[in-house]
Amino acid sequence: MKEVVKVELGARAYEVRIGTGLLAQAGAEIAPLLRRPRVAVVADETVANLHLETLRAGLGGIEMVTLRLPPGEGTKSWPQFTRTVEWLLEQKVERKDIVVAFGGGVIGDLVGFAAAVLRRGVRFVQIPTSLLAQVDSSVGGKTGINAPQGKNLIGAFHQPSLVLADIDLLGTLTERDFLAGYGEVAKYGLLGDADFFDWLEVNGPALAAGDVAARLHAVKRSVEMKAEIVARDETEEGDRALLNLGHTFCHALEAATGYGNRLLHGEGVAIGCALAFELSQHLGLCSQEAPSRVRAHLRNMKMKVDLSDIEGELPDADGLIDLMAQDKKVQDGKLRFILARGIGEAFVTSDVPRDVLHRILSEALAQR
Ligand code: GLY
Repeated sequence: MKEVVKVELGARAYEVRIGTGLLAQAGAEIAPLLRRPRVAVVADETVANLHLETLRAGLGGIEMVTLRLPPGEGTKSWPQFTRTVEWLLEQKVERKDIVVAFGGGVIGDLVGFAAAVLRRGVRFVQIPTSLLAQVDSSVGGKTGINAPQGKNLIGAFHQPSLVLADIDLLGTLTERDFLAGYGEVAKYGLLGDADFFDWLEVNGPALAAGDVAARLHAVKRSVEMKAEIVARDETEEGDRALLNLGHTFCHALEAATGYGNRLLHGEGVAIGCALAFELSQHLGLCSQEAPSRVRAHLRNMKMKVDLSDIEGELPDADGLIDLMAQDKKVQDGKLRFILARGIGEAFVTSDVPRDVLHRILSEALAQR
């Protein structure tokens, strides 16, 4: 089973191949890109323990050198970045070689950034292993690391040459990690495809339970939507911001909870989407039915939906708004939100009165 989605970016166009058994045939998938039969693989340690031997076997006659990095957000840092770049140089990776990022979003972002600057840019292949990375971060060329001042503040746009999304790999994710990735899947339906959201309402539980055909369809449809938006607006001058539905709330919540285990990124996206629809309804943009459906679906999927689902203390509404003001999406000092006129009808605006935002957050916090 294999589906191919093309990211149409002219000379930098590439394919996202989605299917089962892709790791086992990685050699055949990657070989046409190679000038010599050798790849440098940078892998998440946990992923390497589970899947590196399958990748090695799949590469067949292609020689593989490997660097294992520790799992977790802390890896997206200068020390691990320096280590990666220097290791690639020690391995004598040349301008025409291919670097492979083998892991979730952390590895994809870090390795993509290393590839962007190594010898002023080498090509790289993403083999995303988490649902979040398969449907979002491996596609579109955003790469980078975190700074003490905030997440993803150091980086570059550098498109991969190929993305291999093997959905068999999703079978080894914890339920929590899988559902966090599902937050991004639901986001695509909510931002631009009401039919897909209808489909998720029916098929989401089977998908979470392991239905391969449903997983394939959900990853493919998500990637199609991302590819189409990225092709229209690669560097986020306009429409690409739609992909940030739920993210202004999410980034404030992640900052408030320390970017750790209390709240995973995809969990924050799901809660953020629910809040964005709540805000849209309070602003008279959509009917009450829309936020109710969003929340009901997330609940049905056994996901975090409300601020009360986050354990421990949170700042008050003013504190959360202050954290939002540090978001990358702030423009001319104004917060930018992705709001919706209904399910599948999102748009970007800076026009959100502070008092309405304050009320939404205060009400959500009061339910804790
Ligand atoms: N994850 C949002 C984007 O790629 O633009």
